[in-house]
Amino acid sequence: MAVNVAVIYYSATGNVHALARAAAEGAEKAGANVRLRRVAETAPPQAIASNPAWDQHVKETAPGVEVAALDDLVWADAVIFGTPTRYGNPASQLRAFIDTTGQLWFQGRLAGKVLSAFTSSTTLHGGQESTILALANTFYHWGGIIVPPGYTDPVQFQTGNPYGASHAGSEAPSDITLQSAAYQARRVTDITTALKNGQSANG
Ligand SMILES: Cc1cc2nc3c(=O)[nH]c(=O)nc-3n(C[C@H](O)[C@H](O)[C@H](O)COP(=O)(O)O)c2cc1C
Repeated sequence: MAVNVAVIYYSATGNVHALARAAAEGAEKAGANVRLRRVAETAPPQAIASNPAWDQHVKETAPGVEVAALDDLVWADAVIFGTPTRYGNPASQLRAFIDTTGQLWFQGRLAGKVLSAFTSSTTLHGGQESTILALANTFYHWGGIIVPPGYTDPVQFQTGNPYGASHAGSEAPSDITLQSAAYQARRVTDITTALKNGQSANG
């Protein structure tokens, strides 16, 4: 039985958006039904306008992606979250979405989902791991099943972040980083499929 995978992300200037698309493609190729969703922008227009890359992303790229809703979480067997690092933490826009999940959590409707996360930063030691681990605090509260990529594929030895696919730098994510995001989504899909169909994770 095919599993439902939601890729839910925030991106201001497009890097996480690129990773999210790669993750969505990876999950799709692995046989999942996929919803690619961005969370709503909450920043004031003046802040967005002050950064041409942010302004361009909001005007040209973001409108092509549906905005995340709570139903996407209910629908999903697995959720892969993407966020840029903000001083070592997830972006407030993604946190704002997560902070609307109280009723679902209270009703137990977020428990048992497979959860994973990826990120993007400008500098190599700029907080990628702390950002992913900060999201994992929420995953524990939901009673999720956390599935990281680890070093379970050769691509992970090239990108080097077992916590989740991670882009570092001022340029757009490289092919190898996009492959890492796709691999992470494939692993999430494979393990979710095994769980849903009552198989061992090794098939
Ligand atoms: C308020 C703010 C805080 C940031 N904090 C960090 C940081 O702590 N470390 C880092 O390397 N980059 C930091 N960045 C840079 C972004 O995380 C980085 O540009 C990321 O790739 C943006 O992803 P996006 O293109 O999807 O928006 C920060 C950017 C902003 C606007």
